[in-house]
Amino acid sequence: MIRPEDAAGPGTGAPPADILVRPGAPLRGEVQIGGAKNSILKLLAATTLAEGRFTLRRVPRISDVDTMVELLESFGCRLSYGGGDVLHVDVPERIRPHASYDLVSRMRASIAVLGPLLARCGEAVVALPGGDDFGSRPIDMHLAALERLGADIEVSHGYVHARADVLKGEEVPLAWPSVGATENIMMAATAAEGRTVIDNAAREPEIADLAAFLNRMGAEVLGAGSPTITINGGGPLGPVDHTPVSDRIETAVYLAAVGIAGGEITLRGAQPGHLRMLCDKLGEMNLRTSTIKGGLWAMSPHRLRATEIVTLPYPGVATDYQPLVVAMLSLADGVGLVTENVFANRFRYVGELIRMGADIRVEGRCAIVRGRERLSGAPVRATDIRAGAALVVAGLGAEGETIVRDTHHIRRGHEDLVGNLRSLGADISWSPAG
Ligand code: UD1
Repeated sequence: MIRPEDAAGPGTGAPPADILVRPGAPLRGEVQIGGAKNSILKLLAATTLAEGRFTLRRVPRISDVDTMVELLESFGCRLSYGGGDVLHVDVPERIRPHASYDLVSRMRASIAVLGPLLARCGEAVVALPGGDDFGSRPIDMHLAALERLGADIEVSHGYVHARADVLKGEEVPLAWPSVGATENIMMAATAAEGRTVIDNAAREPEIADLAAFLNRMGAEVLGAGSPTITINGGGPLGPVDHTPVSDRIETAVYLAAVGIAGGEITLRGAQPGHLRMLCDKLGEMNLRTSTIKGGLWAMSPHRLRATEIVTLPYPGVATDYQPLVVAMLSLADGVGLVTENVFANRFRYVGELIRMGADIRVEGRCAIVRGRERLSGAPVRATDIRAGAALVVAGLGAEGETIVRDTHHIRRGHEDLVGNLRSLGADISWSPAG
């Protein structure tokens, strides 16, 4: 499918480009926050559960959405943009339940199609996603849960082969509240006979959004947002029109930007209720935030102050915010301590911040960050989506020029980061890849 041109900056399919950032005036103005990437990818996966035309609104122009579009097209679905940020998905009566390694290896979230394909077709063949920059990232909980619902699972030649003539509702306790496993179980269980109860389920806002989507389709999913989710499966499902929750991680990027550059900004469409714990922590760091009608206001009147932060599953401070927090602490007054509890290897980008003069020592799951008045601009590489955004905002507090390379990672998850920061007054631009 050919997507409309992006309004600003290279589109998601554009040639490689670097991002150049220099420190400048405090930020002022407004940014519109889009729909949550981590919700939309799963909602797109969930469309395969029923035949007909689905409509998703507020869909960000990011390359992970392009990858999910290609994946659905490979199943036989037809996708088309309806103007602006509206995406239609036409799901045919019969789909091909095969997710190739080529697409799955581009984006781990592709594993979200396993549950719905199995539910719809009684079988699914999905490539194993493999590891990434946060470590090995197994899917053992997804597979064990689907087996509990009655699926036969075989892993061979790099693919998961799942088959189930009938799925049956069951109790599914999770050893850890995995977001992806909770989502796959919820989607598979909509087709299971009887009741499925997920215990120790993930509670992220994107889980509640997926439950709302499934319920609109005709499913009965109860308790999403709490640790116990009940799915009464087996009912008929149909297509829906849905607007996802807003992207709390994108919201956090602009909070970090204003924290580092100073100034006063409004984030339209943000849902502050989803960032409560982070906003409390940012308050300790001197960043003021306030809920306003239709969004979130933020002001950074003083230099940031160091604090201690621990990442945890929702409602704790999300692991996706962690690189942004480390970037802020690099420029804060005092010594900050960050403990990463969700992913074993999520400090790999720290070396890039150190190249910019940050004083950070990583010991196991902890990073000790001694704040500096200023960082020093340098060429750096984005190692993943969120680390890339963190390097860009760190550049707002670095003397001279910061050149962020490998920006395809940033384009996977952040729509028009450069255009938005520039509209707030930042000195930032695209440049052909060096
Ligand atoms: C999702 C988000 C990601 C976020 C993460 C945690 C998407 C596309 N990605 O990832 O941005 O950082 O939630 O909030 O929505 N684990 C296992 N076995 C499993 C599943 C998970 O050991 O079968 C482990 C993981 O390695 C990790 C932890 O559980 O250490 C959390 O992973 P999980 O919540 O599943 O994250 P994702 O769904 O992959």
